[in-house]
Amino acid sequence: MANDKVSIHGAWASRWVFILAATGSAVGLGNIWKFPYMTGMYGGGAFVAMYLLCIVLVGVPIMLAETLIGRRGRQSPVNAMKSLALEAGASRHWSLAALVGLVAALLILSFYSVVAGWSLDYIIGMGRGDFRGISAEGAGAAFGGLTSDPWRLTLWHSLFMLVTAIVIGKGVVAGLERSLRIMMPLLFVLLLVLLGYSLTTGHFMQGFDFLFHFDPSKVQDGILAAMGHAFFTLSVGVGSIMVYGSYMPKKASIGSTVIAVGLLDTLVALTAGLALFPIVFAAGLEPGGGPGLMFVTLPIAFGTIAFGQIVGLVFFVLVAIAAWSSSISMLEPAVAYFVERSGRSRALVTGMLALFCWVVGMGTVLSFNIGAEAKFFVFAEDGFHLYQWGAEGGRNFFDSIDYLTSRILLPLGGLAFALFAGWAMNREAVRDELAIKSPLLFNLLYWLVRVVAPVGVLIVFIAELSK
Ligand code: PHE
Repeated sequence: MANDKVSIHGAWASRWVFILAATGSAVGLGNIWKFPYMTGMYGGGAFVAMYLLCIVLVGVPIMLAETLIGRRGRQSPVNAMKSLALEAGASRHWSLAALVGLVAALLILSFYSVVAGWSLDYIIGMGRGDFRGISAEGAGAAFGGLTSDPWRLTLWHSLFMLVTAIVIGKGVVAGLERSLRIMMPLLFVLLLVLLGYSLTTGHFMQGFDFLFHFDPSKVQDGILAAMGHAFFTLSVGVGSIMVYGSYMPKKASIGSTVIAVGLLDTLVALTAGLALFPIVFAAGLEPGGGPGLMFVTLPIAFGTIAFGQIVGLVFFVLVAIAAWSSSISMLEPAVAYFVERSGRSRALVTGMLALFCWVVGMGTVLSFNIGAEAKFFVFAEDGFHLYQWGAEGGRNFFDSIDYLTSRILLPLGGLAFALFAGWAMNREAVRDELAIKSPLLFNLLYWLVRVVAPVGVLIVFIAELSK
């Protein structure tokens, strides 16, 4: 049965706009900020290899599953899954996965907005020339000065959330295309400029080796982190890609589109890593420096290169835009759902949800300064504590939300989406939606969704538990 329905929330003008929007969602802080610092924390090549494997075997198949569920359902992820489950005679409780995903996406947005706020602050810093000729210590101190100031963090967090809400309130389909068509290629060009700089540091090969030297003994250390990051960077497991799929034109080919998005996302991450690590080594910084890595490293480069002030300013503007095009995709599944459910205006629903994310985000703001000692999920000698002030182990608020979403909720959500497309929906519906002529290719993709991706997620969970 062909499905010509259109979502009430709008439709992309063409397949090309879907690629732009999905790439806009996928490419963001995950690629430029998170990928390098996670690679640094988990020791380099082994992490990168696991991440690449997870992208191909788990992430892209789940992206395929999400896109086809969304496009066939033509509603918010929760309602799309509900109606497709009924159509296939399966339990409507499958839609719970989309509901959990929707909450996970809001939780991600809460901290994403804070970090995106850092790049707003850096735009000003670059513009003022704060980083001219800056040393590694100076750059570290500048970053520390920002994160230790709750007011400054709150200001940028609020501004970023506001801008996200304004765009979402107007509807995603409008406006997104125009900005992304120019910004995304430009961001990539600037990454190449940075790559050019890192080639001149004399430490390029050291950076390259760090990223690509595979040390099997380190695989288990970062295996769950790598898989979680594969989900995060592709925006899968929460319904963001699903909701974008629901605006996708019927004629567009899902298979090739999804592969294009996966490739672009990976290319940006690897370029960012290759640009960053040589600078890290040249400046004598620690690759395992954590979330500040990009914000400490890049100003050093911009502080030295010709026209660094202006290149740096443009760069942080582009990072903010890349973050913005990701953050709107985190809010969209929830907005679409609550609009469908309550019949209230899009603007009102967006305002309420953005306010919720803003409040939760304040937890992240404080976790970098006065609330740094508030620890959650503490396993101590006297047992487990959900919360404890000043505990030795445990995670601060930001780490806890990041851990809960990337390492638990995203993989579980993705698992459910793959199982749903692979086992609950009937094969003919999937075949019709994918519209792949070659039976061999269809069977391969279908098998990746049905078996390989779910088994992949389970293996990683088991490997993590047996650590
Ligand atoms: N993929 C985005 C990034 O890499 C983050 C994201 C996660 C977006 C989940 C939507 C949903 O920055």
